Amino acid sequence: MTHAGDVAPFDRFARFYDRFTPSADADLLAAGLAQADRPVERVVDVAGGTGRAVRAIDVPERLVVDASDGMLRQAHSNGLESVRGNAARLPLADGSVDAAIISDALHHVADVNGALGEAARVLRPGGVLVVREYNPATLRGTVLVWGERIVGFDSEFLTPDDLVERLDDVGLTPRVRNRDFDYTVAGVR
Ligand SMILES: C[S@@+](CC[C@H](N)C(=O)[O-])C[C@H]1O[C@@H](n2cnc3c(N)ncnc32)[C@H](O)[C@@H]1O
Repeated sequence: MTHAGDVAPFDRFARFYDRFTPSADADLLAAGLAQADRPVERVVDVAGGTGRAVRAIDVPERLVVDASDGMLRQAHSNGLESVRGNAARLPLADGSVDAAIISDALHHVADVNGALGEAARVLRPGGVLVVREYNPATLRGTVLVWGERIVGFDSEFLTPDDLVERLDDVGLTPRVRNRDFDYTVAGVR
């Protein structure tokens, strides 16, 4: 099932995004990346916005792909390589990265299965997709689902178990790090 997704609100808010958003959790991202069965040197931050997630990790090559020009301008001014693109049609060659991150973004993407399939396609064998998301089956998750609805986002949240199934469907081996409100699931190619 697809929904409209959210790009325009982020485009409008891009200049203020980094000021009002806490830093990404470097330890949980690193734990996800550590699931890779290969050295991680090139990472793509899918729907990466200003590059908040990829800025929190220490890897030689970091690329941000996002559909919002405003968010990409911020990523560029944060010193990151950035490319405009839809998460469900990544402008990257097959097997061209060691890891992909989708952090605080999958629920905003219209075509979730398309985005997961594309992340799997661009991974090298042994590479890892790290998804950081919010669990709608928790109390804080329920509040977030309603909060995003009230402010007008078209978000769609997956539980860790839903995500595990979808990673499996795109040929990635799922590894759940935690199932809390703020959860991390890795998928290894
Ligand atoms: C909440 S922001 C998260 C940005 C970043 N991942 C972070 O952790 O700060 C959601 C991002 O998803 C992007 N986005 C939404 N749908 C997209 C799509 N189909 N393709 C690429 N980017 C998309 C938005 O433009 C926005 O930058």
